[in-house]
Amino acid sequence: MKLWGGRFTKPTDKLVEEFTASIGFDQKMAADDIRGSLAHVKMLGACGIIPQEDADTISEGLRGILQDVREGRFVFSVENEDVHMNIEKSLIERIGPVGGKLHTGRSRNDQVATDIHLYLRRETKQIIALVTELLQALTDSAREHQDVIIPGYTHLQRAQPVLLAHHLLAYFGMFARDAERLQDALKRIDILPLGAGALAGTTFPIDRELVAKELGFARMYDNSMDAVSDRDFVLEFLGASSILMMHLSRFCEEMVLWSSTEFGFVELDDAYCTGSSIMPQKKNPDVAELLRGKTGRVYGNLFGLLTVLKGLPLTYNKDLQEDKEGMFDTVETVKGALALFAGMVRTMEVRRERLAQAVKEDFSNATDLADYLVRKGMPFRQAHEVIGKLVLYCITQGKFLADLTLEEYQEHSPHFEQDVYAAIDVRTVVDARDVFGGTGSKRVQAAIERADKAISGL
Ligand code: ARG
Repeated sequence: MKLWGGRFTKPTDKLVEEFTASIGFDQKMAADDIRGSLAHVKMLGACGIIPQEDADTISEGLRGILQDVREGRFVFSVENEDVHMNIEKSLIERIGPVGGKLHTGRSRNDQVATDIHLYLRRETKQIIALVTELLQALTDSAREHQDVIIPGYTHLQRAQPVLLAHHLLAYFGMFARDAERLQDALKRIDILPLGAGALAGTTFPIDRELVAKELGFARMYDNSMDAVSDRDFVLEFLGASSILMMHLSRFCEEMVLWSSTEFGFVELDDAYCTGSSIMPQKKNPDVAELLRGKTGRVYGNLFGLLTVLKGLPLTYNKDLQEDKEGMFDTVETVKGALALFAGMVRTMEVRRERLAQAVKEDFSNATDLADYLVRKGMPFRQAHEVIGKLVLYCITQGKFLADLTLEEYQEHSPHFEQDVYAAIDVRTVVDARDVFGGTGSKRVQAAIERADKAISGL
């Protein structure tokens, strides 16, 4: 017998039962569902809507179910459609018809919305904690590699040398914004829908504030129709997660490049790589690649829900049941990705010698040479032209800028003097960017200190 069976003359078609059921996935929220019910029944008793004695019996029954759920003993069934009815049905079986009083003044519509808010609040906080750990891993690595210079790129062409720490802290900036975005989303996750009933409110003199307090919600929905229809907070979570995954994916792409023979900037730890079934020499950056790949499913989850919501009339529609799987999948994916990624960053080995060599083998000090001429009084545009020609000359000679003789320099401009060599030394080039936000060592050291502060403020 269905909990809603009274109006029906026939059993539900088996295929329909399976098609409409959500128990296969929403059982993930069983503990949240019971938590919400415990708050609701406490309020029903306190407001005299049901006798206190009944409220106590129901609470006890619910606690028993919670224990069974936690210990994996609770049996969920498709006949009972979803997590809400599985639990209510079991409650009635355990404590008798008095269990039927639990649903007084409540609907599955405000109940499921409450479950999602509870679930997502918990998980978002955990994800923020994982982002914080990643920020710490990045800061630690930046501190450890403060002296390492790497080629900086634009268009994936050597551009100007930068500190590895500066590069790592660029990602710090992205992930710090991700943490902020999730914290901001939490403000809209932390709102109580319960008390909205099916859509219009309830005829019972409920006390929503008591329930909000009991469940630790900062606010309640102002409007019952909005309360049961709103999934913006899930979208915000999925949006923030998509941006976060995009950042992880960009970093992963660099790990894949940097660990290749062609770059050779880092060696990923064996524990974070896998081999080939045929090529014995292979060590593949699978973790980085898969994290990059998993970004796609999170984007998919965001677009899936946006699409589900776009044509829905108010208020509840069964379409809304499609809100959960993508959300669960995103939570699991993001949590797994963050933990793996932090481990990969912490264990990767920076190939200092190879990098020291690499930064000498390019023209990424050319801008500094132009700036040198500017300091000698030449307009920048003219200096750009002179150095462009000088680079071209080097290429024809198979030389780098540091290899040129002073005579060769002076053939291109009489402004060049002996001090030119110091000006294009890679360390000088990096430290010359002594501006706020620049890659100069002192600036980066200050940025590391700011990063430490930002982490303790999260
Ligand atoms: N399983 C449903 C969901 O996830 C619960 C709400 C059902 N409400 C309803 N009126 N059928 O959306």
